[in-house]
Amino acid sequence: MSRPGRTYTYDRVQRGFHWLMAALIVAALGLGIYAAWQVPGTSPRRELLDIHKSLGLTVLLLLPLRFVYRLVAGEPAYRAPPSRSAHAAATLAHLTLYALMLLLPLSGYVYSAAGGYGLPWFGVFSFPRLVPIDKALSQAGYGAHYWIGWGLGLVLGLHLLAVAWHAWVRRDEVMGRMWPRRGAGGDEASA
Ligand code: HEM
Ligand code: HEM
Repeated sequence: MSRPGRTYTYDRVQRGFHWLMAALIVAALGLGIYAAWQVPGTSPRRELLDIHKSLGLTVLLLLPLRFVYRLVAGEPAYRAPPSRSAHAAATLAHLTLYALMLLLPLSGYVYSAAGGYGLPWFGVFSFPRLVPIDKALSQAGYGAHYWIGWGLGLVLGLHLLAVAWHAWVRRDEVMGRMWPRRGAGGDEASA
């Protein structure tokens, strides 16, 4: 799914999706962990969880758009292509991140919706409840949310280690594919 010889960086839309969603997810992770420490029903847990849910549901809405765009636009070519196995490992890690970016907010949605809790979007509107109120389903959603959260934390840690290794040890082109430096001859300039 690459466009050989055309461009060596993800396009603006893909970079926009990546960095916007990375910021939303990192903020949601931090808020979720902090809120989980607070006593249920107290302030500021409630308010923080409302923001957490709003961020997470935004991720859930953006993900299909990002995924379809990625399928259509493909990935940029490499100046110095990695080995087959390195490329396969990166693809597997990225696909796992896509799957976790779907399953984590989805499990949070089931937890909150089946528990009869609110589904706000920054106080502007509320998302519809598409599952019945069901304590067992809500508990299952919570269990899934907790463990998928750990899974995302783990794979994200590997993602960041891999990026750091490329940027600081190998000093290769990988970081520049998602964060091109001005004048580095990325997009159409090098077509
Ligand atoms: C916050 C620091 C982050 C940095 C420095 C970073 C850096 C990068 C870089 C350099 C790439 C391109 C890799 C390549 O060309 O092979 C990339 C791709 C990717 N990153 Fe990140 N990333 C970060 C956070 C995240 C987060 C929070 C997520 C989601 C949980 C994420 C998900 C992805 C995915 C799915 C791809 C593959 C893009 C595609 O091919 O469609 N990243 N990232
Ligand atoms: C990218 C999206 C999301 C991420 C990264 C995320 C991550 C997390 C994490 C790490 C926790 C702490 C788990 C614990 O230690 O118990 C948490 C808790 C929570 N999340 Fe999410 N979440 C996301 C989306 C959602 C969504 C969409 C909802 C609901 C609509 C939601 C509802 C909750 C609730 C209610 C808690 C509190 C759990 C408790 O202590 O009772 N999350 N989330």
